[in-house]
Amino acid sequence: MKKVAVMTSGGDCPGMNAAIRSIVRSGLANGIEVYGIEQGYKGLMEGKINLLTSREVSNTIQRGGTFLRSARSLEFKTEQGQSKAVDILEKNGIEGLIVIGGDGSLTGAKILHENYGINVIGLPGSIDNDIYGTNISIGVDTALNTIAHAIDMINETASSHDRTFIIEVMGRNCGYLALMSAIATGAEAVIIPEIKYNLEKIIDKIKIRYEEGKSRSIVVVAEGAGSATDIGKAFQLIGGFETRITVLGHLQRGGGPTVFDRILATRMGSAAIDGLIAGHSGVMTALAGREISYVDLDVVLSNTRQLDPKLMEIAEDLSL
Ligand code: ADP
Ligand code: F6P
Repeated sequence: MKKVAVMTSGGDCPGMNAAIRSIVRSGLANGIEVYGIEQGYKGLMEGKINLLTSREVSNTIQRGGTFLRSARSLEFKTEQGQSKAVDILEKNGIEGLIVIGGDGSLTGAKILHENYGINVIGLPGSIDNDIYGTNISIGVDTALNTIAHAIDMINETASSHDRTFIIEVMGRNCGYLALMSAIATGAEAVIIPEIKYNLEKIIDKIKIRYEEGKSRSIVVVAEGAGSATDIGKAFQLIGGFETRITVLGHLQRGGGPTVFDRILATRMGSAAIDGLIAGHSGVMTALAGREISYVDLDVVLSNTRQLDPKLMEIAEDLSL
């Protein structure tokens, strides 16, 4: 293997640059040239592909976002788009493709492997932590730290005014970020799509906490479980609380990666090069225990990552 390419696709996440840097330098250490594809599958179909040197990835490990940029492409979902992408890879003599992204991007990678015989390795990159087969994806730790920092700050002003804050966090259909940030900040309640909730019960519980002397309440809502605005209105109408709403939005996807994400991305990038050299294809790098392993994309994409019910129990028990 002499020439491989790397792309970032779908929603970006902190740690993507660290992964690209690791792929470029691990490639060079093994006598492999690494090409960067700009803007994911869209850029691939448009032939936006350039050789990356070691200098071009200098000073990137600590940067958020992705310097290769990311994109979503409807055209790549068609056979015509996929054939275009395969032509570009062949024209440029690319022998292996590394895709960093979420479920959608990994689905595209699986199609290139299964339908067109391209050697592909995926890296799980998404703040949502909804990718099956790995303990954690690149970007999750940074997003959680950002969310916890934001909630800590809101907590201070909430306490000064005896207010209830409804804080909406990202995660698409997955409640991981909401649940973990609720535990990490000592929130009074958490609402996630995986578990049915009864708003009146939550409101009653919070009323009791105020009567017992609490000076504020934090309710974390996963975006997939409902809108913070609607939930906030219910808190005001039914509970009579002075309620404020904060939708954290895309700040959760920005910022420099934590040390955990830098190391995870670096290890996965190195494993992607090792994997291609060893002849692996149609797989995703994964953190399993303390080791980086390879999981078939088939397995990754045909399963749903489940939340540990014990974590919900902890969130409930500790919110007294
Ligand atoms: P993420 O990778 O963050 O989950 P998306 O779901 O938007 O983000 O997927 C990113 C891109 O991957 C899409 O814009 C599309 O080009 C490609 N992709 C997603 N799903 C498929 C699919 N079923 N077949 C082929 N390509 C896909
Ligand atoms: O998948 C990452 C994510 O940030 C989700 O948490 C969120 O629902 C979505 O992407 C937002 O997408 P966009 O950046 O297109 O608004």
